[in-house]
Amino acid sequence: MINITILASGSGSNAENIVNYFSNSDKFNVTAILSNKKDAYVHERAERLGIPHSSFSKADMENGALLKTLKELNTDYVILAGFLLKVSDDILETYPMKIINIHPALLPLYGGKGMYGMKVHEAVVANKEKKSGITIHLIDNNYDQGTTIFQATVDVLPTDTPEDVAHKVHELEYKYFPSVIEKYALGEITVK
Ligand code: GAR
Repeated sequence: MINITILASGSGSNAENIVNYFSNSDKFNVTAILSNKKDAYVHERAERLGIPHSSFSKADMENGALLKTLKELNTDYVILAGFLLKVSDDILETYPMKIINIHPALLPLYGGKGMYGMKVHEAVVANKEKKSGITIHLIDNNYDQGTTIFQATVDVLPTDTPEDVAHKVHELEYKYFPSVIEKYALGEITVK
């Protein structure tokens, strides 16, 4: 079994989609959903889905407690599904090329510190972009950088609101994120 542990900070709709995608898999197992926010809606989703879940503090990430938890879960891949903290160096070093993030824009556009969730879509609309999309990438020690595994684009219409763009981008995320994780972990997508 390939063990996936999900880190999420917010609503967790991607986390739920990933759990559902792998629920009947004989190759992948979602071990747990861990959140840096105690009151994040993702905990309710995990509860309903019957997936172990817990929260941790920023200090837990910095003092090795989160890494210990990831190891106890026999984590093979760490999936960042709407996770808004920078991942600590000990975790990066333990899981090289095995931490996968999704970003709701076409990186390197609209990435970096402070660019997350609706802020990204508001900036895309403010700049009258004709396209946006998703980027699935390995992470390194900078926000929203690291090797891109996959991108998909969506048209942005002049009449689209940030909410419209968010909706279109979420649809792309649901369509592609789980299968890209699967293909990457099975070696069907290779990166340099
Ligand atoms: C997703 O759109 C994800 O791409 C984004 O947060 C949203 C979380 O939604 N991630 C980032 O902005 C990371 N920089 P969800 O909690 O419903 O899955």
